[in-house]
Amino acid sequence: MPALSSSDLVAPPPAPRPVEVTDLDAYRRLHAQSLADPEGFWRERIAPFRWTRPPDRILEGDGPGARWFVGGQLNVADNALDRWVDEGHGDRTALIWESEGVDHLRRPLETRQYSFRELRDAVARAAGALRDLGVRQGDRVTVYLPIVPELPIAMLACARLGAVHNVIFAGFPDQALLDRIEDSQSRVVVTADGGYRGGKAIALKSVVDAAARRTSLVEKVLVLRRTGEPVGWTPGRDHWWHEALERATPAAPVPVASDAPLFVMYTSGSTGKPKGITHGTSGYLVHTALTALHAFDLRPGDVNWCTADPAWITGHTYTVYGPLLSGAATVLFEGVLGFPDWDRAWDVVERHRPAVLYSTPTLVRAWLRQGDAGPRERDLSSLRLLASVGEPISPSVWHWFRDVVGGGRTPVVDTWWQTEAGAAMIFPLPYVTPAKPGSATLPFFGVDPAIADAEGRLLDGEAAGQLVIRRPWPGMLHGIWGSPERYRDTYWKSVPGAFVTGDAARRDADGYVWIVGRTDDVIKVNGHRLGTAEIEGAVVSHPAVSESAVVGVPDERSGEAVLVFVVLKPGFSADAELESGIVHAIEAMVGKLARPRELRFLKALPKNRSGKILRRMLREWAVTGKVTGDTTTLDDASALPPSTDGELVDHVQRGIE
Ligand code: WTA
Repeated sequence: MPALSSSDLVAPPPAPRPVEVTDLDAYRRLHAQSLADPEGFWRERIAPFRWTRPPDRILEGDGPGARWFVGGQLNVADNALDRWVDEGHGDRTALIWESEGVDHLRRPLETRQYSFRELRDAVARAAGALRDLGVRQGDRVTVYLPIVPELPIAMLACARLGAVHNVIFAGFPDQALLDRIEDSQSRVVVTADGGYRGGKAIALKSVVDAAARRTSLVEKVLVLRRTGEPVGWTPGRDHWWHEALERATPAAPVPVASDAPLFVMYTSGSTGKPKGITHGTSGYLVHTALTALHAFDLRPGDVNWCTADPAWITGHTYTVYGPLLSGAATVLFEGVLGFPDWDRAWDVVERHRPAVLYSTPTLVRAWLRQGDAGPRERDLSSLRLLASVGEPISPSVWHWFRDVVGGGRTPVVDTWWQTEAGAAMIFPLPYVTPAKPGSATLPFFGVDPAIADAEGRLLDGEAAGQLVIRRPWPGMLHGIWGSPERYRDTYWKSVPGAFVTGDAARRDADGYVWIVGRTDDVIKVNGHRLGTAEIEGAVVSHPAVSESAVVGVPDERSGEAVLVFVVLKPGFSADAELESGIVHAIEAMVGKLARPRELRFLKALPKNRSGKILRRMLREWAVTGKVTGDTTTLDDASALPPSTDGELVDHVQRGIE
């Protein structure tokens, strides 16, 4: 095995308790085995899960149609809850929730804790209530809840019935909710009267009502009482959560086949239509549970705090399923971590004493900006491991996180993965892999990343290009809901035999992977994935707008920020009212997450001869003030004069009416 060569290596801290993989050579051997002999590698590792029927084969097929753990049957909720109760861990804490609101001593107004037994019972009852509403195995249930215990309870209740949950971020507007209800064909929606976020009560039931008015699909709405605000009511369709659960008899877990869908998670891609990324049962469970062990060292009795909202993939996998499948407790925080101020996170750590804190570079930067006093004044000694996801973490932020929050003792596990991946794919083994701050390092077992050039040829050794995954991995998506062709075309076409991640990356001489950013029209704002095409669709819905191009530009706070270029129809001119009208259209159709940092008005958009908008050119101009690339493909020379930077700026400035 070649020794690692770089000078930027940071030695991992010693393991605080015995770990399965003790050194880098052992990791390399196991990784090679996981690729060469999946049967031998996974068979023993899946034994601890409770299979109603063990799989006949570990892996069948290749490419988009590959299937894991074929012939197996189990239930994910049974493995996350009942298994622990039956094995004698029923009294252990499973879920710790605290409200966003605090009193004058910064104590949460409400906290709730569930043991594994209590959570199992709550989930069984909620599953009974869903069954009473007609939910059966394979049915999709849209969940539009604030961050309260009932959110993971609703997810697990669906899983218990073999139903497919489709969780929608509670900040999305009715249009986004409606699109996702319709695309997934959900007849049942679980929501609340409202929720608390950023110190405010937000209405949710009225958003569901607005969406449901525009479709005949929604037959039943289960409504949790959270804020107590008055809500509209449609008799026969709407049911209170507390009444339905009281009436219900607990439902037993329904065993389902390994490749039965567990959930749909909508995420943005290159087109205006979000994709319903569909995950299956056993592969997702195995990948999730084993990364919870190997990336975060989670074991029964540990406390985990993943700051991700359960409505995103990180929340599905590491706020809900990962810790519970590991027998660990998960901390659930109700709202926005900047409330009442950014020190709130340290209060939460001090109060609930998590061993693991898993967050995003955006949040870590927000904490860092406040200075060191908050974390230094609190007792953060429970933290054993810090981790990050969603964007590249810069070395200075990495070091601050480890030294100030982790007291210099903890690893920082930079995990690369994506909604499509199901669970973490590239990350350092916390006590084994030397870190290089800013690199996600080396692949997890079963994961075979490669770098391809623009033509789809795989590159050897040190290389930069598209990040692809050369073979199926256990947590791999099963498809895009309702769109098998789109699934194959988006992910499995441009590089033969490989899954195309949509990320650009570099592999260094040590084989470490460095994520550079997206190669498609997806941007990352506060760690959230947004499609530029979705935002453009909202901008052009404004009656004054003729055309629009949206680009992401680097932003100290949010990672990337949304910049909107607008071409107005003749007779309209840009003013404050028109600007706020466009911003409103974006918020109403895509959501507040997509709120632009800036609007710029142009006379025309730069396009190539086949009419494709040259977003890269606009982005370069926005970031650097000039355009250096090849402009000879421009269709309309007047849209972007190719000669000098000065002319371009002049042109654009003249374009502002
Ligand atoms: C980016 C979140 C750099 C990447 C789990 C990916 C990262 C997209 C990292 C997926 C990381 C995720 N370093 N970039 N450690 N992790 N990304 O679907 O561009 O919300 O493709 O899944 O986030 O975002 P998604």
